[in-house]
Amino acid sequence: MSITIRQLHPLFAGEVSGIDLRRPMSAAEVAAVEAGMDQFAVLVFHGQDITDEQQVAFSRNFGKIEQAVGSNVTKPEDRRLSLDIADVSNLDKDNKVLARDDRQRMFNLGNRLWHSDSSFRAVPAKYSLLSGRVVVTDGGNTEFADMRAAYDALPEATKAEIEGLVCEHSLLYSRGSMGFGPFTAEELVTFKPVRQRLVRTHPVTGRKSLYLSSHIGTIVGWPMPEARDFIRELAEHATQRRFVHAHQWRQHDLVIWDNRQLMHRVRPFDETKVRDMRRTTIQGEAPTVAQQEAA
Ligand code: OGA
Ligand code: MN
Repeated sequence: MSITIRQLHPLFAGEVSGIDLRRPMSAAEVAAVEAGMDQFAVLVFHGQDITDEQQVAFSRNFGKIEQAVGSNVTKPEDRRLSLDIADVSNLDKDNKVLARDDRQRMFNLGNRLWHSDSSFRAVPAKYSLLSGRVVVTDGGNTEFADMRAAYDALPEATKAEIEGLVCEHSLLYSRGSMGFGPFTAEELVTFKPVRQRLVRTHPVTGRKSLYLSSHIGTIVGWPMPEARDFIRELAEHATQRRFVHAHQWRQHDLVIWDNRQLMHRVRPFDETKVRDMRRTTIQGEAPTVAQQEAA
């Protein structure tokens, strides 16, 4: 069987067939998936009934796995899954649906804001691989917005204005914007803002894209309210329906997206229902900008 990809949206997103993610992949298969990712930025694989171990093994074909530390408020003793896996479910360690006022649940509601995974890390994420172990079908879509197309559609004057800009990203900003808090002293340290370029260039295709995320709290050198207003305008532009593909989950789908080229968010659903989603994340290669110690 060989890999084929069917485009799902006029701009991006592909559906892959002819591959079984439970088996070791050949170099040619890895190259075909990477090439598909470079082009489509999000790939959907249906019918992949995989274990955590198989998900981790498949993910390693694309780089180093980012550890799920520094990205949540779950105490180590409350973790349900290994550190190789980001728990994107609505479950506690006993597989019970989290209570409405559970701190972990309220924090995870931040995934409903448009974002790019780990843009709050100095070396942000390359790919995310999300496996739908138990999905909901009424709501709970994951939406993707193509930041390459959004960049291309900007007026030339705006492209020139944003070319060299650097933003500060932090979970304190995205969660703070939802009224989440207070943060512990330890979280304030862990979630210290990092810097990222606002315009980034894909290392393989050379395409430019807007590096937006709800984790952005300011632009270096700008008054914060002006920065927030400017970023909100850009995000509104970048998430127009024409740039968005909505993925409706089927059980055992695995979806890979390129955080360097897209934003994504999850849509609301009935939270009395179990939604067990598990994410492996591939580290990027380098910071997008030199980091500077905060005073
Ligand atoms: C993620 C995320 C989307 C979803 O896994 O990074 O934002 O559909 N979740 O749960
Ligand atoms: Mn995410």
